[in-house]
Amino acid sequence: MIEDLWYKNAVIYCLSVDSFMDSNGDGVGDFEGLERRLDYLQGLGVTAIWLMPFQPSPGRDNGYDVSDHYGVDPRYGTLGDFVAFTHAAKQRGLKVLIDLVVNHTSDQHPWFRSARSSPDSPYRDWYVWSKTKPPHAHEGMVFPGVQTTTWTYDREAKAYYFHRFYEFQPDLNTANPMVQAEILKIMGFWIQLGVSGFRMDAVPFVIARKGPDVSGEPEEQFGLLRLFREFLQWRQGDAIILAEANVLPKQDLDYFGDDADRMHMMFNFQVNQHLFYALASGDDRPLVKALKKTRCRPASAQWALFLRNHDELDLGRLTEAQRQTVFSAFGPDPGMQLYDRGIRRRLAPMLGGDRRRLELAYSLMFTLPGTPVLRYGDEIGMGDDLALPERECARTPMQWSDEPQGGFTRHPTPANLPISGGPYGYEHVNAAEQRHDPQSLLNWIERIIRMRKEVPEIGWGDFSVLDAGAPGVLAIRYDWRNNAVLCLHNLKAEPQEVAFATGLDGDGRHLIDLLTGERSLADGNDRHTVLLEGYGYRWYRVGGLDYLLKRSPI
Ligand code: BGC
Ligand code: MG
Repeated sequence: MIEDLWYKNAVIYCLSVDSFMDSNGDGVGDFEGLERRLDYLQGLGVTAIWLMPFQPSPGRDNGYDVSDHYGVDPRYGTLGDFVAFTHAAKQRGLKVLIDLVVNHTSDQHPWFRSARSSPDSPYRDWYVWSKTKPPHAHEGMVFPGVQTTTWTYDREAKAYYFHRFYEFQPDLNTANPMVQAEILKIMGFWIQLGVSGFRMDAVPFVIARKGPDVSGEPEEQFGLLRLFREFLQWRQGDAIILAEANVLPKQDLDYFGDDADRMHMMFNFQVNQHLFYALASGDDRPLVKALKKTRCRPASAQWALFLRNHDELDLGRLTEAQRQTVFSAFGPDPGMQLYDRGIRRRLAPMLGGDRRRLELAYSLMFTLPGTPVLRYGDEIGMGDDLALPERECARTPMQWSDEPQGGFTRHPTPANLPISGGPYGYEHVNAAEQRHDPQSLLNWIERIIRMRKEVPEIGWGDFSVLDAGAPGVLAIRYDWRNNAVLCLHNLKAEPQEVAFATGLDGDGRHLIDLLTGERSLADGNDRHTVLLEGYGYRWYRVGGLDYLLKRSPI
């Protein structure tokens, strides 16, 4: 496999332009502000940035209600600012991925306005209509508790339209070849402006059969994924699609494609949910199962691993008992929970701000099979504002310093206020302060990213789970090109002594602790014994003293 596949070992950082950095003092983050913070991101060590939607939008779903797929919302800047930004990112070796939201549009999109205005509109068939209310109109809502239906009557159109998400997000009729052609055109447009790929929003719904007669689980039309992939690869060989598809492991190959001809990457929701269960319960067995179930993928495909994202922590794939365990550990109040399935808090408050647990969680994210995706603000341990509705609580502005508004804006009263006061307020939690403190979470994250980059085995290698002889201790070994790496994580609060064999002879008797540089040798029975602190973790390279030379060239 060629080493050019940059996404196999990338470190992705996701952010929303509007809450990152405001350069012009209007209280809204913008591309110029983001550009000024590129050196911060480069210093942190991330290699790719994923931007959430920044296109013109009424902003009723944080930009996921796009009203023009070919523009930049004027609050964030101009297309010129966007290109200046992608160029500046490129100069620093940073790739840019952007959200591609094509399951639906805003109801203010000119296509929908035209479609609803007349049955003869050329855009009528770009959306999904029904003269009468479909029998399954009360099924399949993505936001239960907030959204009451998936079909809404439009007076102007004199018909019902389908919307998998909120009623102001009419679904595009993606079976229509004209809509498909437009999606390709949108991809081609942004590729031309310097992006390296897309995080494709809501993929199972994009490719689902849609219509008044459809009910139940989405019936995916997988041929569409191949169409997207082929087009993209033809336009730009190293561009990728990262799919948001919260599906069951048995479907993974449908999305990746047996011949690696569909999605390059997918978020691993299965591992994400079981990882939180492991953190909540100290039991790593369901996580190990999830890792094994999602092992199978084409050699060039990759998982994206994350802890928290901009949505709720969806626990819908856990058993009822597991879900309740996570709820009671990390989101016991109903106000912390959302849509009957998840937790809407940020990572640091969920883990009680406990540095040991935060390090454990990140160390796991950085060493499980896949490419890590960090969320802005999590590198400094930002908190949430539960007074804000739904998912807004975890989308407050980046906290840069202890200056007014956390240094995010000069505006005295921005609509999106940084968290102020309390243990997570910008007065205490901010990038400027952590930058000067060698022990800060920010500096720790920077070190762990550096380390992750020096361990390509994780992105490329095969993994095996070793028996560490202690419940709640996860031991994973990666093998790639005659190199082996071993990671240990103690999910329990108590210290545990673990004894294990690396399973490798000769050189395999040596371990080098990648975080401290300490070396150790196996005993006469080829076993290593390690005392792990509560929530402790270790990353080892397995091999002799010449380990640095051991990574053989291609
Ligand atoms: C995004 C959400 C958004 C939804 C509708 C999701 O998959 O992650 O934030 O509300 O798509 O576009
Ligand atoms: Mg601004």
